[in-house]
Amino acid sequence: MTTLMTASARQAKPADFLPLFGTDFIEFYVGNAKQAAHYYKSAFGFQSLAYSGPETGVKNKVSYALRQNKMTFVFTTALRTGNAIADHVYLHGDGIKIIALMVEDAETAWKETTKRGGKPYMEPTVLKDEFGELHLSGIYTFGETVHLFVDRTKYNGPFMPGYRAWETTYNPSATGLQFVDHCVGNVGWNQMEPWVRFYEEVMGFKNILSFDDEDISTEYSALMSKVMSNGNGYVKFPINEPAEGKKKSQVEEYLEFFNGEGVQHVAMATNNILETVTDLKNRGVEFLRVPSSYYTELRKRVGTIDEDVTSLGELGILVDRDEEGYLLQIFTKPVEDRPTLFFEIIQRKGAKSFGKGNFKALFEAIEREQEARGNL
Ligand code: FE2
Repeated sequence: MTTLMTASARQAKPADFLPLFGTDFIEFYVGNAKQAAHYYKSAFGFQSLAYSGPETGVKNKVSYALRQNKMTFVFTTALRTGNAIADHVYLHGDGIKIIALMVEDAETAWKETTKRGGKPYMEPTVLKDEFGELHLSGIYTFGETVHLFVDRTKYNGPFMPGYRAWETTYNPSATGLQFVDHCVGNVGWNQMEPWVRFYEEVMGFKNILSFDDEDISTEYSALMSKVMSNGNGYVKFPINEPAEGKKKSQVEEYLEFFNGEGVQHVAMATNNILETVTDLKNRGVEFLRVPSSYYTELRKRVGTIDEDVTSLGELGILVDRDEEGYLLQIFTKPVEDRPTLFFEIIQRKGAKSFGKGNFKALFEAIEREQEARGNL
């Protein structure tokens, strides 16, 4: 009996020490949360969810939580100078501070990650109000970015203690964005491998794909990327680092203007990219464009697809195929004045990859923008 159990235990896969159920929320530190929230409602179709500020007993900051289907974005601004939020905005401009992940036990998540070398950001904490209790903890990742671990199984409020439901008469319609597909981090020279090891060792992720500078290089610039995924694939973080090229890579431009490592883009999934992108464009979201020659080659490269190539071309949507299916994707221009954070809109039709076939056309489009900014 004992022998049998030992044998089967040896064959079993090691248990996932950090089970994750997806992205709980993404928090942005911004210069003006009121206006940022308005933009994400009017341009991207997020819905008003919750508000936190002096009126709810929070004295030094204001936050607006917005939701669209399974995505929650929080926009936070400092009310005074000389604090971590104001300093973050001064140093980095508007950008992502927190990628919060859903866990079943925030305390265990903290213990398991900090004992493996994760740098503590927030010790296990229980926030309570009349809607129940929310369990939180957190560790740092690249740059000043943080992963919070959130267990909201005992909480029924609109978002979290300190927030109240945000009732407003301005409620633009949603745009069909469903959930966070992946979040990409830009890290410094020679820092991709250390951060790959961080996700492997501290968070139990696996490297599922790698791109070297041969894959991702144009005439002028290059980057390298490794995609890290948690056990069930619900949370994926590609990590980019610059590579040597004739001119300055897009990752270097980001690092320079963000003043360090940080989140480069968030990919948001839709079930109908043609409708979503049409809607986003009509609301003023600006997208990168590839040359029209991309579409004359498209059918040869990806074979038969459900979508009308002319419609894809009119909107500038890119297509790539892998062994399991295909994907459609498009990238916004940076959403703030610094050339830092942007968004990807993605629809997967079987493909689990990241659009390697589009890298060249896409990065040439990014370089045209860099050139216009004088940063190439
Ligand atoms: Fe992406």
